[in-house]
Amino acid sequence: MARAAAEKLLSEAIRERRATPSFEDVPIHAADLEKIIRAGLEAPSGYNLQPWRFVVVRDREQKKKLRQAAFGQPKVEEASAVIVACGDPQGWKDGDLEEAVRLGREHGLSDPALQDGMRKSVTGFLGGTPGTAAGLAPSFDLWVNRQAMIAFTTMMWAAETLGYDTAPMEGFLEDQVKTLLKIPERVRVVALLGVGRRKGPDKVYTGRFSPAHTVFAESWGEKIEF
Ligand SMILES: Cc1cc2nc3c(=O)[nH]c(=O)nc-3n(C[C@H](O)[C@H](O)[C@H](O)COP(=O)(O)O)c2cc1C
Repeated sequence: MARAAAEKLLSEAIRERRATPSFEDVPIHAADLEKIIRAGLEAPSGYNLQPWRFVVVRDREQKKKLRQAAFGQPKVEEASAVIVACGDPQGWKDGDLEEAVRLGREHGLSDPALQDGMRKSVTGFLGGTPGTAAGLAPSFDLWVNRQAMIAFTTMMWAAETLGYDTAPMEGFLEDQVKTLLKIPERVRVVALLGVGRRKGPDKVYTGRFSPAHTVFAESWGEKIEF
């Protein structure tokens, strides 16, 4: 697939993006895919713990099978790549916390007190009982979803600004996706992102609620003025 000549402005991408209904059967340029993925990995996360994990599916046969786990949605098979966003609720215990501390050190956070503070803070925040003051409220499902979706969304905008079309998807059976992609039991599958070149007409713009409906000032229900 030819690469985009020039990157779009984010404002342009926000104006023009639609959830792509159908994709051309073309491969994605590997360098562009890498840019998209690396952009997502630059997303912020709580304590920089990066509990997101991604499975990138490009293989034809694998996409065909993934489509079956996604209620037969044709775009899963048609997309040049499907990025399967996951969240690992236990990663922080299994080495990610220490790796985040090490990374911080590598990037100049040299004060051992700060490193210890981070360990204590994370353990206090994530190690308690969900739903209590000492633990994460309300659940690890929410926590990993929160973190993975920001990286996922960053990938979506990166792809759009590079001139690709995208399709976010929640229509899939998590158990089937996990079995197919050999995703560990504890890991949650958060969303699928189809990336490629649109085929045929785009989805029509179906509008958005006004800020008066969805945005409040200072407290819930209070009208916002701009
Ligand atoms: C998290 C998420 C999950 C979605 N899941 C699906 C899906 O499984 N299948 C689908 O056809 N569209 C899916 N969509 C696309 C939405 O229907 C679409 O974004 C919405 O109707 C607004 O249209 P627009 O994005 O083109 O403006 C999803 C969008 C999001 C953000």
